[in-house]
Amino acid sequence: MADDDYREGGLEFGADFLIGAATAAYQIEGAVAEDGRGPSIWDTFSHEPGRTRDGDTGDVACDHYHRLDADLDLMAGLGLEAYRFSIAWPRIQSTGSGPGNRAGIDFYGRLVDGLLARGIRPIATLYHWDLPQALEDAGGWTNRDTAYRFSDYAAIVGEALGDRVDTFTTLNEPWCSAYLGYGSGAHAPGRTSGRDALTAVHHLNLAHGLGVQALRATSAGEPHYSVTLNFHALRPGTEDPRDAADAIRRIDGLANRVFTHPMLRGEYPADVLEDTAAVTDWAFVRPGDLDDIRQGIDVLGVNYYSTATVRDWDRVAPRQHADGHRPSAGTAWPGSEGVEFLEQPGPHTAMGWNIAPEALEQLLVHLHEEFPDQPLMITENGAAFDDRVSEDGAVHDPRRVDFLQRHFVAAHRAIARGVDLRGYLVWSLLDNFEWAYGYTKRFGVVRVDYDTLERTVKDSGRWLAEVARTHRLPAV
Ligand code: FCB
Repeated sequence: MADDDYREGGLEFGADFLIGAATAAYQIEGAVAEDGRGPSIWDTFSHEPGRTRDGDTGDVACDHYHRLDADLDLMAGLGLEAYRFSIAWPRIQSTGSGPGNRAGIDFYGRLVDGLLARGIRPIATLYHWDLPQALEDAGGWTNRDTAYRFSDYAAIVGEALGDRVDTFTTLNEPWCSAYLGYGSGAHAPGRTSGRDALTAVHHLNLAHGLGVQALRATSAGEPHYSVTLNFHALRPGTEDPRDAADAIRRIDGLANRVFTHPMLRGEYPADVLEDTAAVTDWAFVRPGDLDDIRQGIDVLGVNYYSTATVRDWDRVAPRQHADGHRPSAGTAWPGSEGVEFLEQPGPHTAMGWNIAPEALEQLLVHLHEEFPDQPLMITENGAAFDDRVSEDGAVHDPRRVDFLQRHFVAAHRAIARGVDLRGYLVWSLLDNFEWAYGYTKRFGVVRVDYDTLERTVKDSGRWLAEVARTHRLPAV
């Protein structure tokens, strides 16, 4: 395809291909102390000085909790076929254990019913990073017990919503929970230990497996089961690919295979265990865990935004790094000594993330080759840009439209190459609380005015509505 052909549109998606949008509880709901909701690690973290941009918190966010019906109408107005949301664990169990909280369960019951009444499929994530603070106080994801608490929580959710939800997703991006939460400390709970990060990896994997089992045991309907991972799409930062091969292998292991292999194959990759041997002996993996973790899932959720470029310092150093220092793995990437991350060439979004739609196609094809029988769904893809409101009150966001169109073309190409891709959920329905970036980064196809909380559909929202209605890419 020539560079500009994607603008012509015309590509079609099958009638069963789900087109929709995604959000997460803490990023949009607000109402953090209402109806029995307990504090989560993100409440605590965002209120600690210096943790988030401008000290922003999710206290109010988009106030979605109080605007549920209007937001449901907004989704119906866009003609979304599916909506991926997350359930706030501390609304269901304020301290992460004990009986379910009626008011919290009812809120999600109303959300699910409201979606179904509007013909929108509910895709519910159980854990999008808002661990009840009481569980963190007991060790959080470094404590094995948290996986069992998650299983109990999943049973409550399955019981309450398993007759109506289309798809249950256990975890969103456990890579972030483990490595950003316990390794680099950029995310809640802000801990910085490589060993803790790897311990969290295993307990998150265990929570996934136990969670799927609990959901299956309690759901009265026939929901699909899934997990969403943020795959690292890795590129060699060297002319000679041999100078990056080991770096790619290591990061692919730590970021991707350490989740997919236990979940889908029932084993931890031997090379990851070896790479991380100086950090941990993995004694937290107990007999039987891998059988619990490996659960057949109906769909594997893929979140994709950009690529990472790496090289092997030990191979290139003699030629290019005469005065440099060997990169230390640090706590963010335990066991990756000698891997050097390079700047990504542009263009970039407002996050500084590089725009690389072709890498989405490659990632989907690669996953399909690695797990041929595993259906896939894009559960997040989108872009932050510094939108402006025009004088007429509209939000013209041509760069976001361009970004989405290019990535939908990439998905289409992957399908044409044989990938069993079931749908595409754009991140995000609404501008929202972008974690450590606070409200400074806008990902929505709908703008939120944080003073008035008014919603305005952006041009990208109209674009998404047209794609959902016609199942065909328009000319842009
Ligand atoms: C993903 C998260 C999501 C959002 C996007 C931009 O890592 O799952 O909540 O923050 O990035």
